[in-house]
Parts: sequence; structure tokens; C-alpha cells
Amino acid sequence: MKKVITYGTFDLLHYGHINLLRRAKEQGDYLIVALSTDEFNWNEKQKKCYFEYEKRKQLLEAIRYVDLVIPENTWNQKTSDIKEFKVDKFIMGDDWAGKFDFIETETRAEVIYLPRTPEISTTQIKRDLEAKKI
Ligand code: CTP
Repeated sequence: MKKVITYGTFDLLHYGHINLLRRAKEQGDYLIVALSTDEFNWNEKQKKCYFEYEKRKQLLEAIRYVDLVIPENTWNQKTSDIKEFKVDKFIMGDDWAGKFDFIETETRAEVIYLPRTPEISTTQIKRDLEAKKI
């Protein structure tokens, strides 16, 4: 069984997230999502989530492509997660292209960057609502 892992916040879940999760799952048989905790988002990315961690986790667990959700608490847990869960492929959207190439040397996992779905993001949804475009 090929295991795949991806990392992210997945706040205000949208079709760009679903596309990413579907294509990630197509890369293997078992998809793990490491979901950024509220504390990690705030401390490391200065981002406040609209949906708290448990709600974001429940939404992800309801998606057929997702097999397991684990917490992302730090930037540097990736290599230990990959070793612990015996992951074969590490997948991120191409907004992160090149940033995680080191994982291929630190683990046996293949690193794959998938093209982002154009035009949609959590930030964009928040901006549009703020500007009363919707
Ligand atoms: N993603 C994607 N296409 C989009 C938006 C997100 O493929 N249009 C991917 C990201 O590349 C990442 C994952 O979905 O691998 C989770 O992204 P996240 O940062 O949580 O979502 P964004 O909508 O990009 O959120 P933000 O605007 O807060 O950065």
C-alpha cells in the first residue's frame, strides 16, 4: 500500500482544497493530511482560522479521499511524520515548489508539487466577503 501525506490549514474548505486532496489520493492508496493547528497557524503564520482545528478536522474526515488527519504543530515534524507513518510520497501545492526538496534526501519519500487550482483561496474568499463582492 502506497501512503501519501500532505500538509495545510484547509480553512473555509473550498474546491481548490478538494482538487488537491483528490489528486493527492490518486498518487497512492492511503492519504494522510497533517492539519495545521490553530496555535501553529497563529504563532508561525500570523493567521487566525475561521473554523477551529476540530471543525476543520471533521470536515476533512468527511472527505472520501482522506484516510487520516493528524495535527501539524511545527515546521520540522515532516521528516519524522514520514518515517513514523512510512510515507511514500509527500505532496504539496506548487505555491510551495522547491521548498521541501530536502525531504527527498532526509527520507525515502518522493516529493511532488501539484499545480494549484486557479483563482480560489481561503484568503480570496475572505477578501471577497469583506469587499461585499458576494
Ligand atoms: N491549494 C490548491 N489550490 C488552491 C488553494 C489551495 O491546490 N486554489 C492547496 C495548497 O497548495 C495546499 C492545500 O491546498 O497544498 C492547503 O492550502 P491552504 O493554504 O490551506 O489553502 P489556501 O486556500 O491557499 O489558504 P490561504 O489563502 O489562507 O493561503
